[in-house]
Amino acid sequence: MQLGSVTLIFLFIFSLLPSQYGAEVYNITSSHPLSDGETLVSPGLIYELGFFSPKSSANKYLGLWHKSIFPRKYVWVANRDNPLADIDTLASLRIGSSGSLELVDGKHSSFWSTNISNCSSAVLLDNGNFVVKDVMGAVMWESFNNPSDSLLPSMLMGYDRGSGKQNFLTSWKSENDPSPGIFSAGLSAELPAQAFIWINGSTPHWRSGPWDKSKFIAVRSMQSQYVNPFTLVDNETQGTRYFSFSFDKIPGDVVFAYGDISSVNV
Ligand SMILES: *[C@@H]1O[C@H](CO)[C@@H](O)[C@H](O)[C@H]1NC(C)=O
Ligand SMILES: *[C@@H]1O[C@H](CO)[C@@H](O)[C@H](O)[C@H]1NC(C)=O
Ligand SMILES: *[C@@H]1O[C@H](CO)[C@@H](O)[C@H](O)[C@H]1NC(C)=O
Ligand SMILES: *[C@@H]1O[C@H](CO)[C@@H](O)[C@H](O)[C@H]1NC(C)=O
Ligand SMILES: *[C@@H]1O[C@H](CO)[C@@H](O)[C@H](O)[C@H]1NC(C)=O
Repeated sequence: MQLGSVTLIFLFIFSLLPSQYGAEVYNITSSHPLSDGETLVSPGLIYELGFFSPKSSANKYLGLWHKSIFPRKYVWVANRDNPLADIDTLASLRIGSSGSLELVDGKHSSFWSTNISNCSSAVLLDNGNFVVKDVMGAVMWESFNNPSDSLLPSMLMGYDRGSGKQNFLTSWKSENDPSPGIFSAGLSAELPAQAFIWINGSTPHWRSGPWDKSKFIAVRSMQSQYVNPFTLVDNETQGTRYFSFSFDKIPGDVVFAYGDISSVNV
C-alpha cells in the first residue's frame, strides 16, 4: 500500500517535470513554429533541438543536443555564421510564407533558412537527424547532410563527386563560439581512402592512414574494437565515398569536437 502510493507520487512528479522546463513539441508545422523557450524532441526523447546561448556569449543559436549528456554538447548548429542576439526572446523557427523552414528574430528577419520552397513539417529523429518534409512526407532537407562539427552514428561523412557536395565537419572557433573554426575533417579523394583534418581547408594537420577494409590503419583506437563499427563505402559508379559508424559499439557518439579537433576521439 505504502509503496504503491510512493510510486504513484513519483510518476505524477515525473510527468509534471517536462512542463517546468519549457514546452516540448514533436513537430514544427506552418501553424506551429518553434518559439524560444520551446524545444523540439525526438519521439524517444533521445535528442532535443532548441535555442541556446553559449556561456559568456551575447549570441543565441539554434542547436541540437543529446538530451541526457551533461554538460550539453551541441552536435549541430543552424545559424553558426549568423547569431541572433541573446536578448531576443521572440526568435522562432518557422515555416515561412516562402515555404522554407527559417530562423527569424523578433522582427521576422531571417538568420538562417533551408532555402526550399515546399516545406510542410519538421521533426527530429531518434538518431539525431533533423529532417524537413514536404506535404507528402518526403524528406526535403536534413541536418545529417549539413553537418557542423560532430559525426553521429549512422551519419555519412564524405563527398559526392558528381554534385560536388561535401559532408565534412568544421570545428567551432572556440569552446563558446560555434562559428566555423580553422579545422575541418573529411575524406581525401585519392585511393586508398584516408580521413584528414585540414587547417584552413587545405593544409593537412592530421591523417588517418589508409583505409584497410575495416579501419584506418594509423588510428590506434580503431585497432582494438572487438566488433567493427566502422564502414567506408566507395562507390565508383555513383562517385561517392562515405565513412560512418554504427551505434552502441562505441562509447560516446561524438567524433570531432570544438577547436581541439587535433585529439581525434574515434
Ligand atoms: C507533423 O505534422 C505533419 C503535418 O501536419 C503530419 O503530416 C505529420 O504526421 C506530423 N508528424 C508528427 C511526428 O507528429
Ligand atoms: C540559404 O541561402 C543563403 C543565401 O544564398 C545561404 O547563405 C545559406 O547558406 C543557405 N542555407 C542553407 C542551409 O544552405
Ligand atoms: C517539393 O519539391 C521537390 C523538389 O524541389 C519535389 O521533388 C517534390 O515533389 C515537391 N513536393 C511536393 C509535394 O510538391
Ligand atoms: C590559417 O588562416 C589564418 C587566417 O587567415 C592564418 O593566420 C594562419 O596562419 C593559417 N594557418 C595555416 C596553417 O595555414
Ligand atoms: C553504387 O551505386 C549504384 C548506383 O546507385 C548502385 O546500384 C550500387 O549498388 C552501388 N554499389 C555499392 C557498392 O554500394
